[in-house]
Amino acid sequence: MNTAKKVLLIEANVAAGEELLKAAAGLGVDAYVATHEELYEQYRTELREAIAGTVFTDFADPDRALRDLADFCRRTGIDGVVTSWEFLSPLAIRLAAELGLPGHAPEHADACRNKKLMSEVFAAHGVPAPRTVHAPDHETLARRIEASGLTYPLVVKPAENAGSIGVSVVRSAAELPGAARLAQAQTHEFPHGIALDTTLLAQEYVGGDEYSVETVIADGVTHHLAVTEKFTTDGAGRAELGHTVPAQLQPADRAAVLAAVDAAVAALGLRNGIAHTEVKADGRGNAKIIEIGARPPGDHIMRLVSEALGVSEARAYLQTALGERPDVTPDRQAAAAIRFFTAPEAGTLKWIGNLPEGEHTIATSVYKMPGDEVGGPQDNIGRVGHVMLRGATATEVNKAAVEAMSAVTVEMVTQW
Ligand SMILES: Nc1ncnc2c1ncn2[C@@H]1O[C@H](COP(=O)(O)OP(=O)(O)O)[C@@H](O)[C@H]1O
Ligand SMILES: [Mg+2]
Repeated sequence: MNTAKKVLLIEANVAAGEELLKAAAGLGVDAYVATHEELYEQYRTELREAIAGTVFTDFADPDRALRDLADFCRRTGIDGVVTSWEFLSPLAIRLAAELGLPGHAPEHADACRNKKLMSEVFAAHGVPAPRTVHAPDHETLARRIEASGLTYPLVVKPAENAGSIGVSVVRSAAELPGAARLAQAQTHEFPHGIALDTTLLAQEYVGGDEYSVETVIADGVTHHLAVTEKFTTDGAGRAELGHTVPAQLQPADRAAVLAAVDAAVAALGLRNGIAHTEVKADGRGNAKIIEIGARPPGDHIMRLVSEALGVSEARAYLQTALGERPDVTPDRQAAAAIRFFTAPEAGTLKWIGNLPEGEHTIATSVYKMPGDEVGGPQDNIGRVGHVMLRGATATEVNKAAVEAMSAVTVEMVTQW
């Protein structure tokens, strides 16, 4: 008789999904996957081979998806629920709660994803975070900014999106209509078609350096696996250009960052699972949370953490979701980084050349072909490829990253 434990992974079709399937195999856990039938048809063979079974539903209808998945889990005897996909984290939280499996407080399921609800929970619990006002349209937003006493620059963003899409730094009231248009341009998530809350948020601009924190939470106790340094553009848009594990930050900033994450985790009722938190710190021991998600990080950060520290966030996530004690102890203190290639502006790609292949390079990947249309560098959609590197220290890997990136050529077709 097969006595392996069974986990349901809600959507596997991203890098974190592949890491979770690999970690499940390592733990001897059978991994079942929930997705859309037509998306499953696009799953690569290796991915399909790592899956014990599938359940198809329609994530664009959250109530139906919850019912479908709950029925499947009861029938199949699922022991734990995880997700690889940010937009499905509220569903994962509700499903685990409905089944009585380890997870988080279901009353805050949406606040783990919706930045308007998140800001309200943070304000109610005194979690350090930017002051935020919200409105359905830019005229109302302008009035609420005025009434709140918030001063420019401000950050305008939609309540729900990801990848810096629709996020802009606004320097005066005159820029609000344009920022609102950008923030409200996308109404549905891709590829599942989940409706997005396009309520507009205006937030105090938080200065300083940006980090993310990977946290495993087991029975409400936090274990911070890694602090990652985040490199972003610094213009009106804030695209993420790369990440380095571990971050090099002042002890006072580190303490403030981790205390802020602990406060956010407690406020949102995160109890069993993982959190990916984005935080800015000012170099003087003050930190504010930009956002937190009850989900794996994107951008291959789980891979960076395991390369640098020898600890698997994916494995720890599965263990906590199954009610087991997670393995959270690093077995080395090295460093790893990822940097993204972007086009200088939107247009047609001519070629990407001089890809790094030095001793520090772990992997390179290009997402676009010559002749493809590519976006500009204002959000993460504009990326055309990446390089992952490793080194003995963060200083070493950051230096290798600068060298690698200065050699890479992204050339565009010139328009006459
Ligand atoms: N209030 C803020 N102050 C300063 N920078 C911000 C603020 N909000 C967002 N940003 C910048 O914009 C980026 C994207 O915003 P974020 O809220 O994380 O949206 P997304 O869900 O698209 O990642 C952040 O990583 C950060 O660099
Ligand atoms: Mg973010």
